[in-house]
Amino acid sequence: METAKKVIFSGVQPSGNITLGNYLGAIKNWVELQKDYYCNYAIMDLHSITVRQNPKELKKRTLDLLKLYIACGINPDENLLFVQSHVSAHAELAWILNCYTYMGELSRMTQFKDKSKKHSNNINAGLFTYPVLMAADILLYQTDLVPVGVDQLQHIEIARDIAIRFNSIYGDVFKIPEGFIPKTGAKVMSLQDPTKKMSKSDENPKAYISMMDDFDSIAKKIKSAVTDSEGIVAYKEGKDGINNLMGILSSITGESMESIQNRYVGRGYGEFKSEVAEAVVECIRPIRQKFDELSGNNDYLEKIYTESAEKARSVANRTLKKVYKKIGFVV
Ligand code: TYM
Repeated sequence: METAKKVIFSGVQPSGNITLGNYLGAIKNWVELQKDYYCNYAIMDLHSITVRQNPKELKKRTLDLLKLYIACGINPDENLLFVQSHVSAHAELAWILNCYTYMGELSRMTQFKDKSKKHSNNINAGLFTYPVLMAADILLYQTDLVPVGVDQLQHIEIARDIAIRFNSIYGDVFKIPEGFIPKTGAKVMSLQDPTKKMSKSDENPKAYISMMDDFDSIAKKIKSAVTDSEGIVAYKEGKDGINNLMGILSSITGESMESIQNRYVGRGYGEFKSEVAEAVVECIRPIRQKFDELSGNNDYLEKIYTESAEKARSVANRTLKKVYKKIGFVV
């Protein structure tokens, strides 16, 4: 990549309905960061199969996610938008890095522990080595910054550890990446159990807002969000439901928690929830409009992911070749 700009890598798995959490925690910031960085935003299909996927749905979700990236405002002419499995270097480097990652550090990953509980009949090796593939994603592009939600910070930490370990044996092969999380929206919580993160794989659709939900159900879901019985809109420990809704509002409008709190003195949750619902709907409305415009434009989408993958391959293969040489493979 012949650019003076610093490099970003990030991605979302096409493993379910993309939620407001994915948008506020990650994609929204990607849009803002594209001004100053050279960005690689991939669709992480290799990661998604650590949990069983329906093949037809996986294919549809992959293209839908590409549409969503563009609809959210990522410019495909300036950044690379590609499908992870189209760049085989991700899987190849992941294998190598597996040999520089310890079982002990992988067993400490909270996502592995959570997912093994949730999918106890399918605790596959991929689920265990998931963070190594993620390290490969990031390190292949000599990434400076990885914008993600809070839940991914532990994975970025292990990617850094692996890179530092590898560099300490072979010299400066990988750039050591930094994580980046937004001030608000870094952890959007479930609307039904605000002590848990909002997740696209939640069995209860009332717990999350999908970017594809119709506007009436978005409003209904917010209005029926679990809160508390205190009736005071304030950001405080123990008020997880209200804190979450305030965080969502603040992340969308940029208004501070303090200002929201001051505006709601003496007013109830009903009014507050209506404002949050409207803000969310108005935030999603233009995205959906663009998303719909892109639907049926498969040639355009194919051109984007094909050309991006080609460019991504050339950068990724450069790093991979360097790794092969350092290790002593005949190249
Ligand atoms: P995934 O697909 O679970 O989530 C995509 C992004 O959305 C963020 N996110 C949230 N942010 C705030 N509140 C929430 N409730 C919420 N839920 C999800 C995630 O933090 C993430 O930034 N392992 C990654 C995908 C990945 C990746 C990478 C990311 C694979 N390789 C390399 C960065 C760099 C994942 O499962 O994201």
